[in-house]
Amino acid sequence: MKALITGASSGIGADMAYYLNSLGYDLYVVSRNKKTLDKMYQGCYGKVTTIELDLSKEENCYKLYDRLKDEHIDILVNNAGFGDAGNFTETVLTKEIDMINLNIKAYHILTKLFLTDFTKRNYGRILNVASMAGFMPGPYMATYYATKSYIVNLSLGIAEELKDMNSKVKISVFCPGPVKTNFVNVAHVHFNIGSLTSTKAAQIAIDGMFTDKLIILPNNMKINYFLTKVSPMKMILKINSMVQERASK
Ligand SMILES: NC(=O)c1ccc[n+]([C@@H]2O[C@H](COP(=O)([O-])OP(=O)(O)OC[C@H]3O[C@@H](n4cnc5c(N)ncnc54)[C@H](OP(=O)(O)O)[C@@H]3O)[C@@H](O)[C@H]2O)c1
Repeated sequence: MKALITGASSGIGADMAYYLNSLGYDLYVVSRNKKTLDKMYQGCYGKVTTIELDLSKEENCYKLYDRLKDEHIDILVNNAGFGDAGNFTETVLTKEIDMINLNIKAYHILTKLFLTDFTKRNYGRILNVASMAGFMPGPYMATYYATKSYIVNLSLGIAEELKDMNSKVKISVFCPGPVKTNFVNVAHVHFNIGSLTSTKAAQIAIDGMFTDKLIILPNNMKINYFLTKVSPMKMILKINSMVQERASK
């Protein structure tokens, strides 16, 4: 059994990789830093392949697929991603383009290429790590929220197609709220509400995937999810605006 996890050098990605390894999976772990990956995974069971690639560069997504297309990957976890906070007119455009390339384009390309193979052989799972941010617009973190919304909607659309095809291939989308990781330092935010540990978040994501959940939500986000479905958009925008403006100070 083989699992490919992007963004596995820290946080949720690392803990998902460790958890999958404890379940008997050989790992293919990707980040921009092979040295870190080699150190982190040296005590793991079975075979671990560490791969250094910047997935915000389109050509590297194709490189990753070309390298692994004959490895019979069972699970693809698209996880590598980051955020950025601030007023849209003041945030840095190049950072946002990198974010769009990583959070959207890399997920899209890898999902397309691996899912096409998975559907031909009629097995395999894709777990896309999105966020609660994917269910609403997010003033003062507008680009990040929009990227996650793309991933939620892409995953839901594909899931319906797989159902129509009676495919055994599954796709899940993980939508956590705050998780204690390096995310906050990269995004320049601090969370004002309780965060999950990345170990707990990883366990919820992987267990949810194996029970064929389409949308995987931690318990602490179920009420928030419900509220995004029943609240008027004006109210969601006002609340998010207040929360995010404070979080990005
Ligand atoms: N933490 C939260 O509160 C939270 C909440 C909801 C959703 N999420 C989502 O969870 C996912 C994981 O984030 P995290 O919280 O675990 O943050 P993290 O600890 O910062 O991990 C991000 C991972 O992505 C990798 N990465 C970043 N840029 C990359 C690139 N260009 N190419 C390849 N790999 C890259 C990083 O490795 P290198 O730097 O070594 O390349 C690292 O392994 C993200 O998609 C994030 O949006 C996080």
